[in-house]
Amino acid sequence: MPPDLSARIAGVPFPLCIMNASGALCMTEMELLELGSSQSGAIVTKSMTRVPREGNPEPRYYQFGLGSLNSMGIPNLGYRTYAELLPELRSFGKPVVASIAGFSLEEYVHVAEHISDAGPDLVEVNLSCPNVVGKPQIAYDFEASAAILKALRPVVRQPMGVKIPPYLDLALHEAMARVLRECRVDFLVAINSIGNALVIDPDREEAVIRPKGGLGGLGGACIKPVALANVRVFHQLLGPEFPIIGVGGVESGTDVFEHLLAGARAVQVGTAFMKEGPGVFPRLRDELAGVLDAKGYGAASQVVGKLKVL
Ligand code: DHB
Repeated sequence: MPPDLSARIAGVPFPLCIMNASGALCMTEMELLELGSSQSGAIVTKSMTRVPREGNPEPRYYQFGLGSLNSMGIPNLGYRTYAELLPELRSFGKPVVASIAGFSLEEYVHVAEHISDAGPDLVEVNLSCPNVVGKPQIAYDFEASAAILKALRPVVRQPMGVKIPPYLDLALHEAMARVLRECRVDFLVAINSIGNALVIDPDREEAVIRPKGGLGGLGGACIKPVALANVRVFHQLLGPEFPIIGVGGVESGTDVFEHLLAGARAVQVGTAFMKEGPGVFPRLRDELAGVLDAKGYGAASQVVGKLKVL
């Protein structure tokens, strides 16, 4: 029997514990429908705001050997369009995760109310976009995060998760864990890109992307250790029953396995999905099945949080 690669997040069944990360090929109707027909375990939307946005000037995405750098500026179709698309997206028979963003508490609440009415399976509250000029990432401000999540809790009728940026100090993980408990958040998505990194093209003597003086969110293979640490620490702080979706540096079945060991029940794939397209999902599924089989595990869920520490 092949290993069981399904997952359950806040009571919602996922046919496969591998899905796209918000932002990767999930903004347009065509991209979302393609995710629907792909092997992705869910359809995660681009973070949606109240009104449609063009995003930042190009070049705003760059792929290199160690990962990717992006400063997209939240280009999206606006929540109304995603709300209209939801019934069709749900017809693919896997969870639809609506990612929401905003520039104020009021915008978060407005978007959340309306998208919740349209009936996604889960809502992912993005508190960690690093690419807006003059605005700190909300999740680095614990009071602001708590205020938004407290306001959202009564209007989001689906399981509500939070997408966090990487934390690099254990006191910060603890502060965010307190907010998540206090605000009755149902699941965690860890991590968003490492904000405000710089990649230089030495031949041209210039930054590789245009917005924000060349600064952008770092993703891909090089951030995996930071992602694993965040998954691990939150798994320990929030307990084994609290669902965590791991994101960061997933490029192989072994990478998925490592996220599971650290405490993730499922993973999202950003940079590798951008690079490979939807073929990445069956590849990672087969590779993970191979890893689990070789180690004698019958299900991905058996591995969650089983990291041994020397
Ligand atoms: C964008 C980038 C992010 O990391 C995010 O969480 C939301 C939006 C962007 O630049 O579009």
